[in-house]
Amino acid sequence: MKPIRKAVFPVGGLGTRFLPATKALPKEMLPVVDKPLIEYAVEEAREAGIEEFVFVTSRGKTAIQNHFDSHLELESALRAKGRDTELSAITNAVGSPGQFAYVRQMEPLGLGHAVWTARNFIGNEPFAVLLADDLIGGSSSTLADMAEIHAEHGGNVIALMEVPPADTARYGVVAPGDDDGRVVEVLDLVEKPDPADAPSNLAIVGRYILLPEVLDFLALGEKGAGGEIQLTDSMARLIGGAPFNGMRLRGTRYDCGTKIGFLEANVALALERDDLGGDVRTRLQKVLDDHRRDG
Ligand code: UTP
Repeated sequence: MKPIRKAVFPVGGLGTRFLPATKALPKEMLPVVDKPLIEYAVEEAREAGIEEFVFVTSRGKTAIQNHFDSHLELESALRAKGRDTELSAITNAVGSPGQFAYVRQMEPLGLGHAVWTARNFIGNEPFAVLLADDLIGGSSSTLADMAEIHAEHGGNVIALMEVPPADTARYGVVAPGDDDGRVVEVLDLVEKPDPADAPSNLAIVGRYILLPEVLDFLALGEKGAGGEIQLTDSMARLIGGAPFNGMRLRGTRYDCGTKIGFLEANVALALERDDLGGDVRTRLQKVLDDHRRDG
């Protein structure tokens, strides 16, 4: 089995749930503690051995391009001041020339459409898709774990997590087959089912390893839930033609596309940091105490 070399980062969405913050700032550039969401996803992909990165962008997303580019003036200012920590913090993100590519989606027609927009870059090999607003905490790279499952079983691999049954209408949901507690055979996929119709409470998290055949189905441009071209619908059509497995997440997933998930991620990741954790704990406690007194 060949390693996965290419990853697609769909960043073409409007981010309406985060307005007004996302009026002029891409949602994927919102910082969790001190690093933009998109950089967490790129780091996870790098740890999984990804060599080529394509971002599916839209108007107003140039801050993402600038973030992964060199900033020679800032670098030399930091170097002159001996600010090595900050220097490596800004150079770590930068790829080598040609390693990062950007394509414009032109219209936000849905996640499936965004992935299809990257087709010329993907070519005819299995590829990864990472949604930066799904931030996954934990020590290992989720995509690297999925790549291991792909190497063992071949075919398609998606990340899964259990959600409260009442919440299925917010997710793509799988009909599970064989399940060893970690790798779950996927028998069917449904986008945003009502709880009464949901085949399980195992929901798709924004990490995918897909065979290039999915692009043929996406090319049909069929609209699904919410009138959008859904990735889930085309993935469902791959089932039966090749292995299709889900991997239960080990780490915690923070839904940074929502305000509450984003706030939770900031608190959780700050608490884990050696340089911040103690202070954050003390100040959070003070905020809670003050509110309790006021309330
Ligand atoms: P979301 O469903 O979170 O949509 O997309 P959104 O537009 O970003 O945010 P809201 O719902 O308006 O608040 C999940 C991921 O798919 C990308 C988004 O950028 C996000 O990373 N996406 C979505 C696209 O690239 N293009 C699309 O047409 C839709």
